[in-house]
Amino acid sequence: MPSQLSPHVSDIAPGRGALRPARSWLHSDTPSRSLNGAWRFRLSPTASVTEDFAADGFVDDGWDSIPVPSHWVLEGDGAYGRPIYTNIQFPFPIDPPHVPDENPTGDYRRHFDVPADWSDAERVVLRFDGVESLFRVWVNGVEIGSASGSRLAHEFDVTSAVRTGDNVVAVRVHQWSAASYVEDQDQWWLPGIFRDVTLIARPAGGIEDVWLRTGFDHGRGSVEAEITADAAAFPVTLCIPELGVEHVWAAPADVAPLDVTGVEPWSAERPRLYDATVSTAAESIALRVGFRTVEIRGDQFLVNGSRVVFHGVNRHETHPERGRVFDEEHAREDLARMKQFNINAIRTSHYPPHPRLLDLADELGFWVVLECDLETHGFEKLDWVGNPSDDPAWRETCLDRIRRTVERDKNHPSIVIWSLGNESGTGGNLAAMSAWVHARDTGRPVHYEGDYTGEYTDIYSRMYASVPETEQIGSDGTRSALLNCTPAQSARQRTKPFLLCEYAHAMGNGPGAFDQYEALVRQYPRLHGGFVWEWRDHGILATAPDGKPYYAYGGDFEEVVHDGNFVMDGMLLSNDVPTPSLHEFKAVVQPVEFVFDGEKVAVTNLRHSADTSDLRFRWRVEHDGIPVASGDLEIPLVAAGESQWASLPQVAVAPDAETWLTIDAALAAPTSWAPEGHVIATAQLDCSARRPVPAVRPQADWRPGDGTLSLGIAEFTGGSLVRLAGRPVTGPRLELFRAPTDNDESPSDGVEESDDSVAGVSSADLWRRDGLDRLTTRRVSVEHTADALRTLDKVSAANSALCVMVESIWSIEDGELELRVEIEPSRGWQTVWPRIGVRFELPDGTAPVDGAQWFGLGPLETYPDSLRAGRTGRFSATVHDLSVDYARPQETGHRSELRRLTLTSGSTEVLHVEVLPDTRGRRPGFTLSRHTPQQIARAAHPFELGDSTTSHLIVDAAQHGLGSRTCGPDVWPEFALRPESRTIRLRISEG
Ligand code: GAL
Repeated sequence: MPSQLSPHVSDIAPGRGALRPARSWLHSDTPSRSLNGAWRFRLSPTASVTEDFAADGFVDDGWDSIPVPSHWVLEGDGAYGRPIYTNIQFPFPIDPPHVPDENPTGDYRRHFDVPADWSDAERVVLRFDGVESLFRVWVNGVEIGSASGSRLAHEFDVTSAVRTGDNVVAVRVHQWSAASYVEDQDQWWLPGIFRDVTLIARPAGGIEDVWLRTGFDHGRGSVEAEITADAAAFPVTLCIPELGVEHVWAAPADVAPLDVTGVEPWSAERPRLYDATVSTAAESIALRVGFRTVEIRGDQFLVNGSRVVFHGVNRHETHPERGRVFDEEHAREDLARMKQFNINAIRTSHYPPHPRLLDLADELGFWVVLECDLETHGFEKLDWVGNPSDDPAWRETCLDRIRRTVERDKNHPSIVIWSLGNESGTGGNLAAMSAWVHARDTGRPVHYEGDYTGEYTDIYSRMYASVPETEQIGSDGTRSALLNCTPAQSARQRTKPFLLCEYAHAMGNGPGAFDQYEALVRQYPRLHGGFVWEWRDHGILATAPDGKPYYAYGGDFEEVVHDGNFVMDGMLLSNDVPTPSLHEFKAVVQPVEFVFDGEKVAVTNLRHSADTSDLRFRWRVEHDGIPVASGDLEIPLVAAGESQWASLPQVAVAPDAETWLTIDAALAAPTSWAPEGHVIATAQLDCSARRPVPAVRPQADWRPGDGTLSLGIAEFTGGSLVRLAGRPVTGPRLELFRAPTDNDESPSDGVEESDDSVAGVSSADLWRRDGLDRLTTRRVSVEHTADALRTLDKVSAANSALCVMVESIWSIEDGELELRVEIEPSRGWQTVWPRIGVRFELPDGTAPVDGAQWFGLGPLETYPDSLRAGRTGRFSATVHDLSVDYARPQETGHRSELRRLTLTSGSTEVLHVEVLPDTRGRRPGFTLSRHTPQQIARAAHPFELGDSTTSHLIVDAAQHGLGSRTCGPDVWPEFALRPESRTIRLRISEG
C-alpha cells in the first residue's frame, strides 16, 4: 500500500460513522465485554505510515504491548515520546485545521472473542470512552469509522463486521488533528486510548436510551421519563422500589410524567438517591435517581427553592502516573477528601470526566458544573481570527461536542449547570451550542464564561475578578459598567446570578484572600461563590538524576514550547498531600459559624438545606495550649439559614497563661466520606487575662568595647554571637528576602494594584533589583555595659545607597538572656518587602536541630492574608514537616503569632525562645528550615535543594501577604508589607 499522509487529521468534521444521536452512559444488564487490557502497539513518528496493519491477517508479532487505557507518552519509559505541557500555546504551528507531518501516530491491535450466544443480539456496538485526539477503527479489516472529541464517548455499530469467535480490532490514533485546535486546555497533551473500550451486545427490544428527569417541590417528587426504544420494545416498566413506584408504560405514547410522594430531595449536602430500574422484556437499566429542581429566579440560582453557594473547585483528571486515565478508587478518595475540606461543588474543567465520576458525585454529594470538551484559547494570539467558535466550518464540531456532553451525562442529579467549554472566545457556534442545550434540557441553565456580555447564557460568570470588582458585580449599581460590557449589557448581566467559575489561583504558596471573597458572598445574594483554580497539581512522577522521585512540570521533558510550572496550581500536591491553602479554604467556607457574645455563642447554619442534626459540638479550654477542660456543647437543632444561641461553659481563666476556648462542630456519625468526629467547623475565643509585657530596661552606661564576652548562655566574639548554651549559633542577621512564591514571581498587570507595583514587573524582580537577596553588613559600633552588649549594623546591597540600620541589644533581664533588635529602614525604599526578620544559623553539630515545638498559630503555615486555618495552640513538627514540598521550591513554613518556641534535636530540647510582643501588641512569626531563602530561590525542583543538616531559624516581625497574582489580584494593600521600623524581642534560655 502506498505511503500517504492521513487525510483525516485535517478534517474539521468530528468523524465518520459514529452512532448518532449520542446516548447516556447507562448501567445495563445486557452483555458487554471490556476490551481494556494489553493491546499490540506500534508508534510511528508521522501519520504517513501505511494502513496495512488494519488487515485481518496482519501479523503483529514484532509489536510492543501497551495497556489500554493509557497514554503512550506515559508508557515505555520514554520510548513513545514524552508529555508536553502548554497552557495557551499550541505546541504546533497555528495553521488550522492542519497539523504538522510530525504527528505521533499510535497503531493499536487486539483480538477479542464474540461469544456464540451474542448471535441473538440485534446489534453489536463498540464504545470508546476517551481517545486523544483523532482515531480510526477497523474490525476484521473492515473500516468502521473515525472520531474526535477526546474526552467524549463515541460508539460504532460493528454488527456487520464482527463474527462469532475470534475477531481483531485495529485502531489508529493521531496525537494531533484538527480537533487539537479545539482542545487547547491548560494541561498536559497526553495522546492515546486513555479511557475504556467496551463491546456491547444490544438486544432486540432493548432500551437505546433513557432519561429520567426529576423534580422536587415541597415534599413531592416528579419523574418525567424519556424512553428511546422501538415501539416493539414496550411495555417499559419504571420501578423505584423504595418509593413504591412500579409503573408500566404499554406504548411510547403512554409515557407521561409521574408524581411521587414521600420523597426526600437530593442535595449536595444530603445526596439522597433512590435505586430505580427501567426495563423491557429484553433489557433492564439501573439508575440512581435524585429528586431536585434547578431554577434561576431573578438573580438567584436555586435548587429546591434554596439559594446555592458554590464552595467549589475546578477538577481536572490528572494523576502523577496515569495522567487522565481514570482510577475509581483514587477518584473516590479525592472526592471524599474534597468533602472533608468543606468543598461542595466541582466544575469539571474543562471537559467531561470519566462517566463514573458523576456516579460518585451523585452519591457523595456535589453540585456539578459539567463542562464540554472545548477550548480554543490559542486563537487569542491571532486576535481570535479564525476562531472555531465563530467559524461556520466548525459549527458541526461544536454542536457534536455539546450533544455528546449533555447526552452522556444527562441523568445525573449532581449536574446542575451545563458549561459550553472554556476560553474559546465568543461566537455563533457557542450561541448555537447554547440554543441546542436550551432546547434539549429545560431543567438546567447554561454557563460559559466567555459570554461576557450575556448574549446566550444564563449565568454571569467571570474568572479571577478582583475583590472590588466582585463587589461591584454583587452590588446593585446598575449604572456602573462591568468588564467588556456596555452599561446596557451590564444591566442585563446584573439580572443574572453571578459565579466565579475560577478564582483564587492556588499556585505554589497561596492564594490569599479566600475570606474576602467569602465575605462578599455572604453580603450579596447575587454572588453564588465559585470554583477555586484548582483542585490538584498536575505533576508527573519522574526520576531526578540522583535517582530521587520528583513531580515534573512543563520543560522537564524538554518540550519545544511549554509553560513551566503553571500546571502546578492545585490545593493538593501531586502526591495527594493537602497544601495549607486547602486547610485555609476549609476554614473560610466552614458551614457553621460561631459568633461569641459574652457568655453565649450564636451558632449559624450556613448550609443550603441541611440542618445540624448530623453534627455534635464540643468545647475545650487550653492554658498556653495545654488542655485543662472539655465537654459537649448543647446546641439546639439549627435549620439551614438559621441561628441559635447557646450558653458557653464556665471557663477557668489562668492568671499566668493564655486561656483559649475552642469549639468544634464535628460529624456525629460516620459518613461515606469521613469518620465520626471529623471536624467541619472550628472557632476560638481568647479568654486570657491581660498580662503586662516587661518594659525595656533603660541602659545608659554604654561604652565602646571589643564585643568579646559572655552573657548568660551567650558567647560573643567581636560583637557577634558565636555560641548559645555551648552550641555554635550565629545571628541575628537581617533577612528581608523570601524565596519568591509563584505569585511573587508574577509580573504585575498594573491594574488595581498597590502603588508599589510596576506594570510588567514582578515583586521578586523588584526585590532582586534592590538586592534584598544579597544584603551585606557593615558593623558601625560595638558597645558594652556590665550586663549588656550593643551592636549597630548598616545593612545594604551592592550599588545601592538604600540601607537598613539594625541595632541588636543583648542583655540579661530577670536572669534570662534577652535580645532586642531594632530594625530601621532608610528613606527611599520603593517596593513592598517580602519580610522583616532576623536569621540565626544553627549549624550541624553532634545533635542537629531537627524540630520545633511552639505555642502560637498552627499547626500549618500562615501568612497575613491566609490566617483563618491557623488556631492558637501548642504544636510540634520536624524541620522537614515545617516546610511544604511545593513543586517549585519557594517561601514556605511561616508560623505566625509566635509566643514560645523550643528548638529540638530528637527528643532533646535545645533552646527555648520566648517572644515578647511589640508595643502595638504585634507578635512575630518564625520559620525553621534546612535551607536559606537564597538557596531555596535557586532551586527549580525540591531535589535540587540538596541535603543539609544546618537549621536556619528566621524570626519575622512581619511577612508580606500571598495574593493570587499568578492569575488574579495582587496582595490586598492591607496585607502588603511596606518597609517600616520594627522591633523584635526574644528571651532565650537553655533547653
Ligand atoms: C484560566 C483557565 C484555566 C487555567 C487558569 C490558570 O484562565 O481557564 O484553564 O489556565 O487560567 O491556571
